Amino acid sequence: MFISFEGTEGVGKTTLIRKIYDYLVSLGQDVVLTREPGGTPMAENIRSLLLSVNNEEKMCNDTELLLMYAARAQHLNQVILPALAAGKTVLCDRFTDASFAYQCAGRGLSEEKLQLLNDNFVSKMPDFTFWLDAPIELGMTRARARGELDRFEQEKAAFFEKVRSGYETLSVRHAERVKRLDASQTADQVFAQALAYL
Ligand code: TMP
Repeated sequence: MFISFEGTEGVGKTTLIRKIYDYLVSLGQDVVLTREPGGTPMAENIRSLLLSVNNEEKMCNDTELLLMYAARAQHLNQVILPALAAGKTVLCDRFTDASFAYQCAGRGLSEEKLQLLNDNFVSKMPDFTFWLDAPIELGMTRARARGELDRFEQEKAAFFEKVRSGYETLSVRHAERVKRLDASQTADQVFAQALAYL
């Protein structure tokens, strides 16, 4: 299976993915844990470009979208598709839903632009997606506590409210695939919610 994990900053995705990874490995499954943007050396370079704060030149929204998909094309073809073809389970920290939530709902880019990219460059969608949902302020407090903020983390709460509503839209539109988890609970409780679906 191909499982993705989504949510705004600081909702505990990394902790949940790690727990699910350990759980599936303990059952004897062959599991690949990966992330977007990133997941290959080249895609990780694109990630650095996307996340770094550049006060001299603002990144255009279109550039941001295209870089996300450049990284995704590399990652999908080099890591995700070969792993699935080899019968492995892929746990991916973010995938195309993040582009809908951040670039469309958050930045305001049209769904047509995203659709064009998905239709042409994304041959495989996740079988299952966990959306970790928690109040924006809670996540932002957790993200701030981690230290220096990246280019996305520096956005205001209003931006993340739009991103969150983007995820909400997806959870309604693709109710059979995108499952909301209450991420304001403890890490163990969130894991228990996810296990019920798994
Ligand atoms: P991370 O902090 O979860 O590793 O993700 C890096 C940032 O990239 C996060 O702020 C969300 C953003 N992002 C997008 O805006 N669009 C995308 O398609 C992806 C995969 C991530």
